[in-house]
Formats: sequence, structure tokens, C-alpha cells
Amino acid sequence: MLTGLVDAHTHPVWAGDRVHEFAMKLAGATYMDIHQMGGGIHFTVNNTCSANEETLLSSLLTRLRQMNQSGTTLVECKSGYGLDLENEVKMLRVIEQARTRVPLEISSTYCGAHAVPKNKTAEEATKDILESHIPHIKSLMSSGLLRVDNVDVFCEVGVFDVAQSRAILQVGKDAGMQINFHGEELNRLHSAEMGAELGAHAISHLEEVSPAGITAMARSGTVAVALPTTAYMLRLRPPPVRDMIQQGVAVALGSDFNPNAHCLAMPIVMNLACVMLHMSMQEALAAATINSAQALGQSSMHGSLEKGKWGNLLLLDAPTWEHLVYQLGCHTNVISAVVFKGEVIHE
Ligand code: NIG
Ligand code: FE
Repeated sequence: MLTGLVDAHTHPVWAGDRVHEFAMKLAGATYMDIHQMGGGIHFTVNNTCSANEETLLSSLLTRLRQMNQSGTTLVECKSGYGLDLENEVKMLRVIEQARTRVPLEISSTYCGAHAVPKNKTAEEATKDILESHIPHIKSLMSSGLLRVDNVDVFCEVGVFDVAQSRAILQVGKDAGMQINFHGEELNRLHSAEMGAELGAHAISHLEEVSPAGITAMARSGTVAVALPTTAYMLRLRPPPVRDMIQQGVAVALGSDFNPNAHCLAMPIVMNLACVMLHMSMQEALAAATINSAQALGQSSMHGSLEKGKWGNLLLLDAPTWEHLVYQLGCHTNVISAVVFKGEVIHE
């Protein structure tokens, strides 16, 4: 028996896959080459904006059920393929509707600053987010129509810079959301220090984080969310999780499920974390349970089997729990049942 897994970072609401871009990357194109050509996130934004709520909800529910069958009982779900207010709210509404329809807990994230819309500058987009998006979402939250748990930005060269990201995260926090953002992925911008200063719950990616950034995160108790599927897909150098652990930063794991990194299964992420990030299986388990729950501010009810917490657990059909990590791609054979809030979901 094992505690239910927690996936600390996903982008599960979208239409239109990007298998053609996988081929482009294999032929040598970088993630940012494709983004700057109008593909990548922009390609998914076009397709997601054209899709209706019903279609998006139906694919989201399928994906969430697959995650649950792979052992996930708490998952973070981002918006971020709408970019304009109408489509961002559409995505958040789709996530809201999924909450009562699937046997797992959702932590929702407003990620309107996932890319700069094609017809705007980053400055204009930041202004829209600060003056129109977040106030509107806050009013939907206050009237009980939406629950939004986290605020996110993609802080990166060619996307939102550190000052713009800081402003968005601060206003999101003031509106009642936890700070949880993409930082230090492709370039060292020192967004880890900025996030730590704002009291971020979590920062994801961190391949390029500096030693000072790690120290700042340790001091502020900010969780580092490592995303090995993305480092693998984009052949990035892995984030320095060993240094983070040594400095006292809690390291969590996320699948980063999105059209670029199409992985729904945390046991596969745990295997990649062991091999690529040099984590032990024990560390990967802590990262995919209690530390991920901590990244989402939900460790009081999720992430471990303790009296008073939800009864979210996995029953395993294997000689030891380590087989869940070791049997790459065979995790559904290892998991014989998933229990969510005391109820058996899959057998
Ligand atoms: O976490 N880096 C930004 N966001 C996602 C990718 C989203 C996409 O490519 O559609 C990530 O890897
Ligand atoms: Fe992401």
C-alpha cells in the first residue's frame, strides 16, 4: 500500500496535439525556435480558443481519469492556452466543472501569462492581466463562481521578464491566489530570488537556477517543482536537485502534461527523476507525494497516509513499492486499486 500520488504541475486543458512539432524537434529545432515561428504554445492557443467548453471538458475528463488510473489523487491544472480574458475564464470554468466529475482533487491555476498574445507586446499583455484579467477573476472567485488556487507566469526571455512576472504574481497573490510559477527554465534570470522574496509556494523547472536562487528558496520555504519529462523532451540540462536537497529546499515532481510533454503518469516521472535527476526512489516518492502536496499548499490533507488526512491510497500488486518506479511504463499492472477519499475507484 502506498499513499496516492500528487502531480504538482500540468496543463491538461487543450485541443489539437503537436505531434508534428515532435518531429521538428527531433530534426533539430529548439522549443523557442518553434515558439517564435508562431507554433508551440501559440499553436495550442489557436486550437483551444476555437474549441467549445464541452469538447475541452470531455478531453480533460479523459486525461484526468488516465492520471487517476496511474495513481494520481491530487493534481494541479493550469489555464494558459486562452491568453485573452474570455478564453482564460473558459478554461478555468472547464477545470471547475471537472472538480465534481472525477475521482481526484484539483488545484487550479490561472496562467494567463503563459505567452504573449501575438497581437500584443509583453507590456500590453501585463497591463491587461493586471487591470482586467485578475480583477475579473477575483470577482468570480468572490461570488463563488470559480475557485482559483494559484497564479502562474512563464518568466523567460521572449515571454514575461522578471519585473512583469513580479507584478503579475503580486497582484494574483493579493487577489487570494498562491504563487506558483515557471522560472529559470531556459535562461538564468534570477526569478527564483524574486519568487522567494514574494513568498512563492512553488517554482517549476529551475534547470538554470543559481546557487543564490537555491539559498533564497531554502530561506523562504519555496518548493522546487522538477519536471523531468520536459528536460527529457527538450534535452535540457536537468535541474540541480541534489544541490537543492542539500540546501534544504523541498523538491516536488510534476508530469508537466501538455502538448509538448505528453505524459500523464507520475510513476514514469518518478523513474525519469531517478535516472535523469539522480534522485533515489525514496526521494522520488517523497517528491511525488508530500512535497508535491506542499507545493500546492495541501499537505495538511494530502501527500501521506496519516490519521486526519484523506484516505487517498494505492494498493499494489508487486513484491515491493519500488516496482512502481522500476517497471517503466507498466505501472498500471503494478497498481491493483486506487482509493480516493476512502472509496475504491479502480480495481
Ligand atoms: O511547463 N514552459 C512553459 N510551459 C509549458 C509548456 C507548454 C507548451 O509548450 O504548450 C512547460 O513546459
Ligand atoms: Fe508548465
